[in-house]
Amino acid sequence: MLQATGISVRFGKRVLYEDVNIKFSKGCCYGIIGANGTGKSTFLKVLSGELEPSKGEVSKDKLERISVLNQNHFAFEEYSVIDTVIMGNKELYDIKTEKDKIYSKPDFSEEDGMKAAKLEERFAELDGWNAEASAESLLNDLGISPEKHYKLMSELEAKDKVKVLLAQALFGNPDILLLDEPTNDLDLKAISWLEEFLINFENTVIVVSHDRYFLNKVCTHICDVDFGEIKLFPGNYDFWYESSQLLQKQMREQNKKKEEKIKELQDFIARFSANASKSKQATSRKKSLEKIQLDEIKPSARKYPYIDFKPDRLPGNEILEVKNICKTINGEKILNNISFKVKEKDKIAVLAENENAITVLFQILSGELEPDSRRN
Ligand SMILES: Nc1ncnc2c1ncn2[C@@H]1O[C@H](COP(=O)(O)OP(=O)(O)OP(=O)(O)O)[C@@H](O)[C@H]1O
Ligand SMILES: [Mg+2]
Repeated sequence: MLQATGISVRFGKRVLYEDVNIKFSKGCCYGIIGANGTGKSTFLKVLSGELEPSKGEVSKDKLERISVLNQNHFAFEEYSVIDTVIMGNKELYDIKTEKDKIYSKPDFSEEDGMKAAKLEERFAELDGWNAEASAESLLNDLGISPEKHYKLMSELEAKDKVKVLLAQALFGNPDILLLDEPTNDLDLKAISWLEEFLINFENTVIVVSHDRYFLNKVCTHICDVDFGEIKLFPGNYDFWYESSQLLQKQMREQNKKKEEKIKELQDFIARFSANASKSKQATSRKKSLEKIQLDEIKPSARKYPYIDFKPDRLPGNEILEVKNICKTINGEKILNNISFKVKEKDKIAVLAENENAITVLFQILSGELEPDSRRN
């Protein structure tokens, strides 16, 4: 159990949020949402203890282990891939390293023997004997093939490093898992594997993401960072969207009713204040008027993304027709007989195992590259 009590974060004069009170429970997955720059990453840093809040405190059970998705892709360059994953459980990794150091000593004293025995005991408690196997299995699941497991991190491509760091965060069944935008730079296969992993994860997950499909699948709760507050909503993203829209609508309607009442009271007071026989009623209405408070509706920082195309002229129904495109580059067949049609108002996602294929296809469509054969 992780709990934020009375948390406020300010940078200089800028207030990100004030008096945040949220209890994060086991078995739940909390999605942190909000516009860019509202303070989602900062909140994760406060929860992990990396950043001291301006006010308030974060508490957790002493024995619980927090695991954080490392944002620095170059932090483990000189370590092997497998060690980088095992480092996800720092205590286990430190014991493993210390043990190895003792065993490699040429003069193994009695004292060393006792120390090693103690380390072995804790190592076994932490399921150390299965560490490599479970690290390998996480790597395989994320699409990092076995021949890369014992390479150095510096030898990996950027997209593989991201996956190793994710495996590091997930390693060793942490009690609390903090993930800041974990689906960025992941391929679709890895994203759907992560979704399944998080759905089946039995401890606490707190995840920042702008990916609402992902949030919808994995979240049991949504924490919305907006209006200088962090509000907790039970349910997934769609449920949050519906209920927050409803809440806003209700607030606007309530204010509208209050404004009508205010107007009615003001009219009465204006008409009858000078009238001796009605002055008592006018005074009582003045008092009622003072009691009515409009709810403050602060402006939202949220901006929904959209693409606004303004074509020079209205297009017809058939926008594009691609027929039998092939492309081979350096002996590798990148595109093999690609054909499709694009109609007005279509919204198309282009997917490929080989990301190069998408780049090449778009280069051909934009006229930057010539296909090997093109009949149209
Ligand atoms: N150490 C710091 N000192 C001063 N300002 C900071 C510091 N850290 C973050 N900020 C500011 O606080 C605000 C919130 O930053 P944060 O990175 O938490 O936003 P975010 O919600 O994660 O945004 P994004 O969606 O773009 O990742 C930003 O305006 C940022 O510039
Ligand atoms: Mg962020």
